[in-house]
Amino acid sequence: MTLKDKALAQGVPIIKDGTLAYLKELISKNGYRNILELGSAIGYSAIEMAKIDDLIHIDTIERDKERYDQAIVNVKENGLEDQISIYHMDIKDLKIWHDYDLIFVDAGKAHNIEYLEMCFPHLVPWGVMIFDNMNFHGFVKDRGLTHNRHTLSMVKKIQEFIDYVQEDDRFAIILEENIGDGILQVRRKSL
Ligand SMILES: C[S@@+](CC[C@H](N)C(=O)[O-])C[C@H]1O[C@@H](n2cnc3c(N)ncnc32)[C@H](O)[C@@H]1O
Repeated sequence: MTLKDKALAQGVPIIKDGTLAYLKELISKNGYRNILELGSAIGYSAIEMAKIDDLIHIDTIERDKERYDQAIVNVKENGLEDQISIYHMDIKDLKIWHDYDLIFVDAGKAHNIEYLEMCFPHLVPWGVMIFDNMNFHGFVKDRGLTHNRHTLSMVKKIQEFIDYVQEDDRFAIILEENIGDGILQVRRKSL
């Protein structure tokens, strides 16, 4: 069984194929080497990104102990311990010590503004942040699809986040609604 199949069988949420293909191309095309990932789950996306090139290093954060433990095993099984550092912690306690080429945000969608403000200063000048699930399974475009209060509150937060980055002069953004579950690319606006 592949790691992807294992994740799907266990109901562990993982990156969609289209988003992964997009990230891989971005990393290869730009020669990105230093990556921070918020939300490791069982290590699937980190492993796929690390496999692109031996020189890539990924720091990835996961607060769920069971998933973290599985991620450690999966990284080891793939022989990628030198390339992937997994941290068992809550993102809110993260102290960032150096700058990254790519920061992939794949954790609590309600906290995207916090994660943006926390990480954006730690992007190299040519770097990019990628936020996943901007469509939130189609609900952002069509809120009428659900009456679930939790889903509606999540959708509202995602829309607030998109408005926030759109209205702020620091950010150059591209919203790619047709990739995976929708991604948002955020870079420094060139002066
Ligand atoms: C969508 S999954 C990550 C999937 C992974 N990137 C992949 O594609 O293989 C999101 C993960 O973020 C973790 N997470 C959510 N909020 C977090 C937080 N505040 N701190 C650390 N991890 C968090 C969840 O436990 C979950 O495993």
